[in-house]
Amino acid sequence: MSHPARTILILNGHPDPARKGLCHALADTYADGAQQAGRSVRRLDVAALDFSFLRSQSEFEKAAPPPDIAAAQDDIKWADHLVVIFPLWLGDMPALLKAFFEQALRPGFAFDYGAKGLPIMHLKGKSARIIVTMGMPAFVYRWYFRAHGVKNLKRNILRFVGFSPVRDTLLGSVGTLGKETVGKVFEGVRTLGRRGL
Ligand SMILES: Cc1cc2nc3c(=O)[nH]c(=O)nc-3n(C[C@H](O)[C@H](O)[C@H](O)COP(=O)(O)O)c2cc1C
Repeated sequence: MSHPARTILILNGHPDPARKGLCHALADTYADGAQQAGRSVRRLDVAALDFSFLRSQSEFEKAAPPPDIAAAQDDIKWADHLVVIFPLWLGDMPALLKAFFEQALRPGFAFDYGAKGLPIMHLKGKSARIIVTMGMPAFVYRWYFRAHGVKNLKRNILRFVGFSPVRDTLLGSVGTLGKETVGKVFEGVRTLGRRGL
């Protein structure tokens, strides 16, 4: 069992810098809930960061990260709990968010190479929550598509560097939700923030 998080980093993975739409509002709501409960919150909007795509293994292993990525690494280190929010794009996280993880979770910072290709995890002791919005019903993504994109982020990215537990919240049918359901969704996310989960 993990303890409820005291310091929380909310990573909004929506590529649109316009700060409109569901993901941005969910990030605000989670932050409100967490702050109401006296938790320390930092925010990162991937769309506002200045970085390019990683191009090579040697850049991954040897180059200094761009300044915005170095600052993001400090925020990741600071937080007990990471909340990653993104819209499902082509069954997965948007490419810009994947590019962020490639940049930020470099060896030396997030892990080091151990025996037989297994990682020495540097981000142990931290938990994470993944919140994903999508056009299709969430149960279709989970049961028919097997939620491969979310599993990849959970297992291959976050757990690989030490995050545990990594929980998820999938919000489906976002284009057709009634007002009442939207209200419940936001209340649920505010409660997650309050509880630091
Ligand atoms: C490029 C793109 C790809 C998308 N791919 C999917 C998809 O594979 N499955 C799905 O259910 N919805 C898909 N959607 C719908 C988005 O998931 C949905 O509009 C988003 O979650 C709403 O959140 P937002 O208001 O924060 O953008 C896609 C949308 C875009 C723009």
